[in-house]
Amino acid sequence: MKAESEAILQSLREAIAAAVTERELAEVKSRFLGKKGEVTSFLRGLGALPSEERQAAGKAVNELKQAVEAAIERAVRELKGRELARRLEAEWVDPTLDAGRRPVGSIHPTTRIQYEVEDVFTSMGFQVLDGPHVETDYFNFEALNIPADHPARDMQDTFYLEDGNLLRTHTSPIQVRGMQRLRPPLQIIGPGKVFRCERIDASHESSFHQLEGMMVDRDIKVAHLIYFMKTLLSRIFGREEEVRLRPGYFPFVEPGFELDIRCLLCGGKGCSVCKGVGWVELLPCGMVHPNVLRAGGIDPSAYSGFAFGLGLDRLVMMRYGIEDIRHIHSADLRFLEQFR
Ligand code: FA5
Repeated sequence: MKAESEAILQSLREAIAAAVTERELAEVKSRFLGKKGEVTSFLRGLGALPSEERQAAGKAVNELKQAVEAAIERAVRELKGRELARRLEAEWVDPTLDAGRRPVGSIHPTTRIQYEVEDVFTSMGFQVLDGPHVETDYFNFEALNIPADHPARDMQDTFYLEDGNLLRTHTSPIQVRGMQRLRPPLQIIGPGKVFRCERIDASHESSFHQLEGMMVDRDIKVAHLIYFMKTLLSRIFGREEEVRLRPGYFPFVEPGFELDIRCLLCGGKGCSVCKGVGWVELLPCGMVHPNVLRAGGIDPSAYSGFAFGLGLDRLVMMRYGIEDIRHIHSADLRFLEQFR
């Protein structure tokens, strides 16, 4: 009997050594412990033994069964361990390696300021309009009370197309388009890119951004204009900045003003951005000229309004302390990454 169980254990060891996969081991298990397995038949053979031998033989058979089970369990554990080790070796990851990060873009500082200004005005009931970069002479000049022979055209020289159209010099055409489309009372803003044939320096670019604003209703006065301009600046800078209002000439407003901000780059001492005067022109504005209201189809005897044209890039410069406007459109990542 002992010899027989030894023989079973020996053939089990051989079968385990030959099994390579878990499946093969499962087959070994059923070959020895299954219903028709070698251990099971061995166990059945007990019945044929004389009763005095049966108890000892039963104990021996149980030990054999346990030994077989333990051997198979161990083999399964070892096989799994080997499989894990193989996978760890084949699929290892080095967490110290640079993952080759993809550069993530960010919103351009001028766009960010534009969105902020839009939020300020839409929260006060203004709607945002758009207009074409390529404009007709009529919308860019004529409708804004600047006829062809007017000297004010020299203030805004631009790039002309062969068909007589031009790259808009300011966002003010959006006013006229807005008036023609909407009826008063109206509150609109119009941000966008504008173009001028300009001598470029620390505060002048040939393409830059403005944000136009206009409010037309009955009895609109300069006090309304000042209220909205002050609200805008305090919301953008988060505190009251020093500003001054002085007369300014624009054919499309009467009276016209220049709203200047104390230069935040030099604190008013004078620098290349403020051209040594300590103030930066930021927000020209005024009461809409009757001729402009008429061009928009609005009766100036019934309605009045204010308008302004904010220089967005200059606002960016003041807000972030940028000493040269040329950085803003340089597309230099060293500059842009600071605004992530
Ligand atoms: C105008 O363009 C008028 N259309 C603004 C206006 C609208 C006045 C409605 C009254 C009523 P001006 O040329 O000053 O105005 O330009 C407006 C602002 O744009 C300036 O205050 C300045 O902040 C900015 N700006 C003007 N030229 C440049 C330039 N070359 N580069 C960068 N910013 C400029």
